[in-house]
Amino acid sequence: MSSTTLIGQPTSRVDGAIKVTGAATYAGEFVVPGLAYGYVVNSPIAKGRITQVHSAEVLALPGVLAVFSHENRLPLPDDDNCYMDQLAPGGSPFRPLFDATIKFNMQPVALVVAETYELARYAAAVLRLDYEQEPHQTDLSKQRGAAFKAPHQANGFYDYPPSRGLPEQAWASATHRVAGDYAHPTQHHNPMETFATTVEWRGDGQLTVYDKTQGTFNSQQYICNVFNLKKENVQVHSYFVGGAFGLALRPNYQVPLAVMAALALKRSVRVTLTRQQMFSLSYRPLALQHVKLGTNPDGSLATLHHEALQATSQFEPYAETVTHWSGVLYRCDNVKLEHLLAPLDVMTPVSMRAPGPTSGLFALEVALDELAYETGLDPVELRLRSYADRNGLMDKPFSSKKLRECYQQAAARFGWAQRNPEPRSMRHGDLLVGWGMASGVWDSSQAEAGAQATLTADGKLTVVNGVNGDIGTGTATVICQIAAETLGLPLSAVTFRQGESTMPAAPVQGASWTAGSVGTAVQKVCRQLREQLLTLAQQLPDSPWRQAGPSEIEFTDGKLGLLGQPETQISFSEVLRAHRLPHLEAEVTASPDAKRQQQYSVNVHNAVFVEVQVDPVIGTVRVTRLVEGVAAGRILNPKTARNQVLGGMVWGIGAALMEETVMDHRFGRFMNHSLAEYHLPVNADIRELEVIFVEEEDDIVNPLGAKGVGEIGILGVSAAIANAVYHATGRRLRELPITRDKLL
Ligand code: MOS
Repeated sequence: MSSTTLIGQPTSRVDGAIKVTGAATYAGEFVVPGLAYGYVVNSPIAKGRITQVHSAEVLALPGVLAVFSHENRLPLPDDDNCYMDQLAPGGSPFRPLFDATIKFNMQPVALVVAETYELARYAAAVLRLDYEQEPHQTDLSKQRGAAFKAPHQANGFYDYPPSRGLPEQAWASATHRVAGDYAHPTQHHNPMETFATTVEWRGDGQLTVYDKTQGTFNSQQYICNVFNLKKENVQVHSYFVGGAFGLALRPNYQVPLAVMAALALKRSVRVTLTRQQMFSLSYRPLALQHVKLGTNPDGSLATLHHEALQATSQFEPYAETVTHWSGVLYRCDNVKLEHLLAPLDVMTPVSMRAPGPTSGLFALEVALDELAYETGLDPVELRLRSYADRNGLMDKPFSSKKLRECYQQAAARFGWAQRNPEPRSMRHGDLLVGWGMASGVWDSSQAEAGAQATLTADGKLTVVNGVNGDIGTGTATVICQIAAETLGLPLSAVTFRQGESTMPAAPVQGASWTAGSVGTAVQKVCRQLREQLLTLAQQLPDSPWRQAGPSEIEFTDGKLGLLGQPETQISFSEVLRAHRLPHLEAEVTASPDAKRQQQYSVNVHNAVFVEVQVDPVIGTVRVTRLVEGVAAGRILNPKTARNQVLGGMVWGIGAALMEETVMDHRFGRFMNHSLAEYHLPVNADIRELEVIFVEEEDDIVNPLGAKGVGEIGILGVSAAIANAVYHATGRRLRELPITRDKLL
């Protein structure tokens, strides 16, 4: 037993102070001797070839060290496998500077390296390249003919969603029906920290790479494979990450460019991307969708059809679970799901917070609101009539599911019972008021992770895992809580060291699985230290604990003793000193109980209720209240968990009302590539947000019972807002973002 209760407490971030005081060092800030600066030149065309690189002109500038292009790059392998990182969706990953081919607008075509950043940037601006342009296609609506079934992906993250029952017959005989076309736009991640890689040349081919990444080990493996280097010669360090949201799951092109320059020049090199260059990276792909719903006489779903066409690049078939969740969220016997991809002359998309359901559930949840009006049922009641007790897509029971309680508790807090369903029936002064709701579902999983721990004779514990710096989730804090509680130490006695590729392994930090995966490994390693401590204590002369089993011993505040008998306590320090041990150590690997987990569907759910106020004259929409109920297993830290859900809610507001990357198809180029034109909510756009956690007991997801909350928060929000806008105005909008031009 450990009587120190820390898991589940609203604990402030252990790394909060160093972040807000600027003491945390990010990938682009490391000071290394003899650093040179690389600046990327991006293609102005979307398709074609580079015919000439006029390097001589900029090489003549004093201080310019090199211009790297396909003409003079280091040798690179031909084999696609060498470029496959852990998240590669198959196909042929993009290879920067490999040859003269241009595959997308803003493709990196050269790296200029100079003694200063300013000089590199200037030289890059004046570097002339000649191109031979070919016609490109960036318009998804014109590529339907080239669409193909989204393939199963080698990395295991995506399987084609199966259909079930007799969806066509059920549609023909449905009592009530709705059908509509929905569109979720392209979005770019835009974390505060832009991408940066600092490669420290340590001589003799030894590199330390300070990288902005969600995968310390993924970066290391990629660098080693692309440049044929040995792991012992390439260390990747990632201590802090200023947001990533999925964009740093795969190594972006600044990583190989910085490494190449360092290897070629035998000197340290940093490559940092500008905000505009962030729009040359991956993104959430445009999803054009069609949803059809039909009911049984009792209002339950008789049939559900969801088809999606999503954009990908010409070279990689990136697929995400866009229609998958429509087969999971509701009970329905006749389901038709289709997910097509169409290749465009663009960069490959990548995961962005809740990749798949953010687009797909927008369509489904708006369609359900339409069905609520069609059937005359309250939107919550309609959903309850098709409440899924099993995952119908996988035909498995849920390991736990308290979505019903989410509906009830969030609806009660919101005051949903007061809603008059009639559109335009509610007003606040001159403003139209609308109430809408929606729901969401996402995966929970555990991946294999290692952990090492050292308890020193002064009673301090250090736990170690190589997972990259916290992406905003509060990982380090939760890890310290788990370690401290498991061993019976105050939080202040625990240090978590992370973010180096020489440390015990971690999966990429994504998929809402880090707390459950690394946390489980940390719990396991601390349990081993407990056992060691108890064994050592029992070996002491006159040990009052000699006969005691582990359950009769209490670990608390750095001491162990018989349960409820403080006079028998001995401090960890005394145990170590009595044995003349400077420290105790343990190292473990924790793997998911795959056999048991495979029998279940392990999911996190939410229910979102929202109030909007719409100005009928100028079309302004303001989200005045948002209440979200979340069922995500055990909440390890209500403070950081709430932070994550709040972030998702804010993003949902942005997705509903502002966010969209607009392609100018004449150039095949994203035009609003700056935060001045790519609109995001600011503080003044956000009013009341409330998060309710409905805790679930779940020992299947992982030993901690935590399902992870990194992604669930965003789900349902944009649909709930679209539904509220309909309620306020009577205008049904099926395409995001809901901007005033669409509303007026
Ligand atoms: Mo997440 S979209 O797996 O970072």
